[in-house]
Amino acid sequence: MMQRKIAFIGGGNMAAAIISGLIASGYDKKLITVSAPSEKTRTRFSQNVGVLATADNVKAASEADVVVLAVKPQLMREVCDGLKGITDIDQKLFLTIAAGTAVQLYRDILSPNLKIIRIMPNTPSLVGEGVSGLFADDKTSAQDKAFTTDLMSAVGKVVWVEKETEINHVIAIAGSAPGYLFLFLEAMQEKAVSLGFQPEQARELILQTAKGVVALAEYEQDLGFNQLRANVTSKGGTTFEALNVFDKKGLKPTVDEAMQAAIDRAQSMEIEFSLAKKS
Ligand SMILES: NC(=O)c1ccc[n+]([C@@H]2O[C@H](COP(=O)([O-])OP(=O)(O)OC[C@H]3O[C@@H](n4cnc5c(N)ncnc54)[C@H](OP(=O)(O)O)[C@@H]3O)[C@@H](O)[C@H]2O)c1
Repeated sequence: MMQRKIAFIGGGNMAAAIISGLIASGYDKKLITVSAPSEKTRTRFSQNVGVLATADNVKAASEADVVVLAVKPQLMREVCDGLKGITDIDQKLFLTIAAGTAVQLYRDILSPNLKIIRIMPNTPSLVGEGVSGLFADDKTSAQDKAFTTDLMSAVGKVVWVEKETEINHVIAIAGSAPGYLFLFLEAMQEKAVSLGFQPEQARELILQTAKGVVALAEYEQDLGFNQLRANVTSKGGTTFEALNVFDKKGLKPTVDEAMQAAIDRAQSMEIEFSLAKKS
């Protein structure tokens, strides 16, 4: 991949995952700087990971070609306020991984012509199995987009969306989805334990089933999920009876409502954070 000087503002779990992925794919450590307030985080990056670390966000961003904004969404305005006035800001590429922070928020604070790409990764990125939704508008070049594709490919797959509103849809489909799937696994484990299984034994049965289901769907890539489900369901059999219960209890409308709630929350966060700027 292209090697550019890159500064991570914030050195939390997601920044650490992306940096590990970059290094594993051959990125030059000397081109990576992490800026974080705590000594503990900086030491972890400089000594254990071998990249540069600083407490000075402005210095890190000023010296970089690419600035990855990797702090919590509620801190983003304060952090960006601190970066105002960096010279050549429009020459740099900014990437943000914070949910609920619109492109316009960054342009309002930093520069009206800011080159900014929104990235919505998900937690499996921490083990290199993530998927990220990416959005850029026409201020960003094809080369910047290619760089960002390579960057996030270091921790999983990437999907570009055409409209910024679709980033909030990616949040519902992938960003928040590990939570839904863990809930399902948790409910299955609780039932298994109530039947007398040890939690570890139940965990193994459930996790291996989940892995197997993913492997099967990848193997049978021409089959839709509905067909895969039909293939494991014989009329009058055990799976049939279980699926009937999900159907009667309204699993699909419940999933629809839950995903819509995630989208609505992402949209309201965008409004909250843009209003916070003006107050
Ligand atoms: N984790 C996920 O699965 C995930 C998924 C999608 C999106 N995201 C987004 O990714 C962003 C980071 O998430 P995370 O889980 O990596 O968070 P995190 O583990 O809480 O890390 C936040 C980092 O920000 C640093 N920080 C705090 N104040 C700062 C400041 N003023 N200047 C510079 N750095 C500052 C902290 O530094 P110290 O370590 O020194 O305290 C910490 O390293 C969030 O916006 C989150 O919404 C995360």
